[in-house]
Amino acid sequence: MSRVAYVNGRYVPHSDAAVHIEDRGYQFADGIYEVSAIQGGRIIDEEAHYDRLERSLGELQIPVPMGRPALRLISREMIRRNGIRDGLIYMQITRGVARRDHPFPKAGTPPSVVMTAKRVKAQSAEMVAKGVAAITIQDIRWARCDIKSVSLLPNVLGKQQAREAGAYEAWMIDRDGMVTEGTSTNAWIVTATGEVVTRSLSNAILGGITRASLKRLAESAQIKIVERAFSLEEARTAKEAFLTSTTGYVLPIVTLDGAPVGDGTPGPTTARLRDLYMAFMADPAAAAA
Ligand code: PDD
Repeated sequence: MSRVAYVNGRYVPHSDAAVHIEDRGYQFADGIYEVSAIQGGRIIDEEAHYDRLERSLGELQIPVPMGRPALRLISREMIRRNGIRDGLIYMQITRGVARRDHPFPKAGTPPSVVMTAKRVKAQSAEMVAKGVAAITIQDIRWARCDIKSVSLLPNVLGKQQAREAGAYEAWMIDRDGMVTEGTSTNAWIVTATGEVVTRSLSNAILGGITRASLKRLAESAQIKIVERAFSLEEARTAKEAFLTSTTGYVLPIVTLDGAPVGDGTPGPTTARLRDLYMAFMADPAAAAA
């Protein structure tokens, strides 16, 4: 089955899918995106992704190009046309095509809407069993990291630095020495005293959908989550560390800058939280009951 993309109202072969060179997403990174997981043909946390998409558009004053029924319809059509059971769906909305000039284009310029979908293989069992490495880098991003903007240059550079160091992720450290988040994931630790900590929501991090679901699942399993900033120092001396994201789910981090976190193996709290999340992915309704 050949891949199909959605571009501004049309389903087109993925290999021919294109936007204009004067799309503001291309020229100014003037746009937002969402990545959602597809499991068993269903989109995980679909409405939460649309909530965040609409919020990002609102914060950037990009008109909402279509309502939720249309988003749901196109998403389902993309899953069907691409024959996906387990995979990812990507949606991107930009401020549209206009002659290059920094101010917003004239009212009525239609936003550009693009969707792609792809199959993904199951996460490597070895990666889950052994955990992954993370490095730390300075957080050099702008002051609105809560907006899921396509402007991802610091994240791209950080992830590349992680890869070159043989690591899966880079945790970003703010000016006060506190961990903000990973380049494409949220950051969590289990402290020396057993607190499960992730940074509270603010303009400094993206409000992860996986983060929110895991928090809800943990709390219904009587595992307390503490939302506060934690320092790099605290992370280095933590018992466990892990990340959450749509693409990584809940993944143990076993080294930070080459030094072991805890005993350098995935910890029991991370394993428990991962199990809760994987059960939710497999059957969201049962997990909510
Ligand atoms: N990234 N923080 C950042 C900076 C992110 O880019 C992401 C998601 C997350 C986790 O959010 P969520 O749980 O909603 O996936 C946190 C996506 C997967 C990406 O850019 O590919």
